Amino acid sequence: MKLFNNFRFALFFSFIGIVVISFAILISIAVPRLKTIEVSRESEALSQQLFLSANDFSRVLARPKELQGLSLEYANILGNRITVVDLNGRVLADSQVKAAGLENHRDRPEIIEAREKGLGKAIRYSATLRKELIYVAVPIKKDGQKIGFLRFAVPLNYATNVFRLYKSVWLALFISVIVAVISSAWLARSFANPISRLSDVAKRIAAGKFENRFFRRSRYEVGELERAMERMSQYLRITFDKLSAKKSQIGAVLSSLNEGVLAVDREGNVILANPVIEKILGVTEPEIKGKTIREVVRNNEITELITKALRTGERVREEIQVFHPFEGIFDAHAGPVLNEENIVIGVVCVLHDMTDLRKLEKIRSEFVANVSHELKTPLTVIRTNVENLLGGALNDPAHNAEFVKKIDKHARNLSVLIDDILELSRLEAKKELGPFTRINMEEIMIKAIETIAEKARQKEIGIVTQCPGEPVIINGIEDHLYRAILNLLENAVNYSDPKAQISISCRREADRVKIMIADTGVGIAEHHLPRIFERFYRTDVARSRELGGTGLGLAIVKHVINLHNGTIEVKSVEGKGSTFILTLPIVT
Ligand SMILES: Nc1ncnc2c1ncn2[C@@H]1O[C@H](COP(=O)(O)OP(=O)(O)OP(=O)(O)O)[C@@H](O)[C@H]1O
Ligand SMILES: [Mg+2]
Repeated sequence: MKLFNNFRFALFFSFIGIVVISFAILISIAVPRLKTIEVSRESEALSQQLFLSANDFSRVLARPKELQGLSLEYANILGNRITVVDLNGRVLADSQVKAAGLENHRDRPEIIEAREKGLGKAIRYSATLRKELIYVAVPIKKDGQKIGFLRFAVPLNYATNVFRLYKSVWLALFISVIVAVISSAWLARSFANPISRLSDVAKRIAAGKFENRFFRRSRYEVGELERAMERMSQYLRITFDKLSAKKSQIGAVLSSLNEGVLAVDREGNVILANPVIEKILGVTEPEIKGKTIREVVRNNEITELITKALRTGERVREEIQVFHPFEGIFDAHAGPVLNEENIVIGVVCVLHDMTDLRKLEKIRSEFVANVSHELKTPLTVIRTNVENLLGGALNDPAHNAEFVKKIDKHARNLSVLIDDILELSRLEAKKELGPFTRINMEEIMIKAIETIAEKARQKEIGIVTQCPGEPVIINGIEDHLYRAILNLLENAVNYSDPKAQISISCRREADRVKIMIADTGVGIAEHHLPRIFERFYRTDVARSRELGGTGLGLAIVKHVINLHNGTIEVKSVEGKGSTFILTLPIVT
């Protein structure tokens, strides 16, 4: 079957078919024509013989024996069947059959025609001779009067001629077929080769292989087709290159966006999803492409936003919340895509992550609330004491000093609180922080210990230090690092009972230094540990406040350490003591 699907074979067999059909037509026209020619030639010859012989028969017509003899004689010479009939159709003599046994010949068409026109012809199958015969009859006349009919009959032997014709036709057909086979094979090749080349090229183009030159040049229309195809291939290649460049540009833009982008068509089927939206929705582009948003987007707010934009053809915007696969708040825009006729053909939805911003806003507002609260306490105390003084206590030498001391203490607390807040905001904004310089960590530690020494001595707390002996240099802001260490030492003193022990040590570990401040104080309950670096977080608010603490100390320390690319962690057992461990990169 494959063979006949091949163009070359189809062409080849078509040529052969044409040759054979031509011969069939030739034969079907020529054979009947041949019969007509044969009949007219034969009847012509017979009628001439008849006219010549009729006279001889008129002379012996009345004498049956002589008539029979003459009939046989003529039949021998001419090779015809000869029949003589009288005017009534009765057979008087016949060269092949006994005349007496023959039926009346009056109604034979050739006899009727001979009677009427002087010459009658007929072709008939003779049951007697089992052959198709041609009969020709003429009247026998005597003195111008018809006295009977003479009929000659010969077998119509055109079949022999036809057979001869067939023989030559077969020969001609055979020769023609051979010629046709050779020439059609050659023709088929010369027609089919360019076409199969064209088909190969079309297949290559379909597979996306756009070469610049495909062809050996052919002639005629095929050549034109080849050139057109070559131009088409070049044009396609250019267009394809442009398109794929554009596609990769768009792809690059979409994947570098911080926003999630989801595009759908008019029916709400996904046509594009960038990596960010894949993360937000917890899906991948290939698995959702072509599916409807209702099927693949689990978030109702997003699907409704897109559906609304599709329905109304207007831009819609909403802040939405996503819970799966992770929690987040997004500013979602869904904008319709219109065609030239201003008909909506799809929607592009862009999700802008607002999670951090909203978190920050929340932290800020909490911070403001906390600050106000923290400011209120000392201010209330100050106001109450001022009111007391103004209310008469000023002139009471036994108590007025006490009121003024309280005012002084809380005013100091207030000032410390404001200093801490300012420092924290400078650290957060990373502004006005002072220069980074080479700092010897041991010197800082000694300076901080000296500052805290008096306080520790008052509580009979001993401070031991342990350092490697060689200088540990880090790149940092001296003042901040000093205050961070001091803060941790202060905490250790503040949250330890008298006679406790504090140790501060530093140790080099590869390119880092590890500073540990350990105390044997009250410790921190496990559930507080994760939160103690938060602003204003205190495990015991009353104690901290009594000690003049703001609850910002550790938050500031953490910021300072982060600023120096370090880490801080805490280990503590309630009632046993706490250890704060700082790790900072050193300058080698
Ligand atoms: N060494 C420690 N032992 C036990 N608890 C501690 C220790 N260090 C800190 N804490 C707890 O962590 C809380 C937060 O400490 P932080 O230094 O931030 O604030 P503060 O000491 O209360 O005030 P300040 O801002 O003056 O330092 C403290 O209130 C205290 O409850
Ligand atoms: Mg503190």
